Amino acid sequence: MRILVTGGAGFIGSHLIDRLMANGHEVVCLDNFYTGHKRNILKWLDNPYFELIRHDITEPIRLEVDQIYHLACPASPVHYQYNPVKTIKTNVMGTLNMLGLAKRVKARFLLASTSEVYGDPEVHPQSEEYRGNVNPIGIRSCYDEGKRVAETLSFDYHRQNDVEIRVARIFNTYGPRMLENDGRVVSNFVVQALQGIPLTVYGEGSQTRSFCYVSDLVEGLIRLMEGDQQGPINLGNPDEYTILQLAQTVQAMVNPDVPIKFESLPLDDPKRRKPDITRAQSWLEWNPTVPLSEGLKLTIEDFRARLGERVVAQGTKTGSLGSSQLPLA
Ligand SMILES: NC(=O)c1ccc[n+]([C@@H]2O[C@H](COP(=O)([O-])OP(=O)(O)OC[C@H]3O[C@@H](n4cnc5c(N)ncnc54)[C@H](O)[C@@H]3O)[C@@H](O)[C@H]2O)c1
Repeated sequence: MRILVTGGAGFIGSHLIDRLMANGHEVVCLDNFYTGHKRNILKWLDNPYFELIRHDITEPIRLEVDQIYHLACPASPVHYQYNPVKTIKTNVMGTLNMLGLAKRVKARFLLASTSEVYGDPEVHPQSEEYRGNVNPIGIRSCYDEGKRVAETLSFDYHRQNDVEIRVARIFNTYGPRMLENDGRVVSNFVVQALQGIPLTVYGEGSQTRSFCYVSDLVEGLIRLMEGDQQGPINLGNPDEYTILQLAQTVQAMVNPDVPIKFESLPLDDPKRRKPDITRAQSWLEWNPTVPLSEGLKLTIEDFRARLGERVVAQGTKTGSLGSSQLPLA
């Protein structure tokens, strides 16, 4: 099949492309490189079945494809809050453009939505029936409400134009190729620990998150695309950890000497987040398989290699990178 992956040069998109290419598909990767990087897809650039197009999805594009995985959108608060109006445009106009394309070429369309559509949830764990508790005017709204509109657009294109849609609500995902400066909790802790600087925990660290390893998520996305259910469907790992537990785990794995420091909680930070994955389990026969300790090990190795390369490139043979090189959220 000929498959379009928007946001394919990003963290999840590039892992998805690895799987699709390995499965023998022809892949078109569309990305404006806002948070994505060519290095993530470097190994496919010379492959005749791979095509990279630098394109901003807020502009329409004409392509012939059988499936569209629509992932283009910055996912971390640092990046989606940098230009909130652009984030809304990407979610609304970008999704409209991609749904228009799906309608024209009769492609199946999968939206990478998010657990953020549940906002600061009042029910726990969150099932797909829960309608959410989102602040429409907060600093996270450009992303949360943007994704909610993207879901609405998907379902309206389905009802009005018979576009075949799939909607995945993705919960915190981590793994190799996450950006080191994006302020997401796993990458923050790993980079801080590797650099020997204190791990920053916001609040008391009692807020919970669940962490899904990227290969598990990619498996869920492909099953959803290939299956008969349109969703929305939660994809995430239901194992719940407090942020403090995560900090302590990373600390123990990377550098037991590095201290943990506490800072005030950012606005609208959800207190608890854990997916109910009953639907994914029964509809897709999907379950996350990679335990946190194993996923963290692979993630730490990747960050260690990337930070190490930079140290060598800078001609610094010993010592840690300075904390000034790590803008933290
Ligand atoms: N990583 C997570 O934990 C998580 C959780 C929930 C949902 N998601 C969703 O999954 C998708 C991928 O997330 P990710 O973690 O890989 O993020 P990412 O930032 O690594 O990837 C997003 C990609 O989209 C590209 N992009 C952004 N705006 C664009 C535009 N206007 N035109 C073209 N390309 C554009 C970026 O350059 C980047 O390559 C996003 O839609 C995100 O909302 C991710």
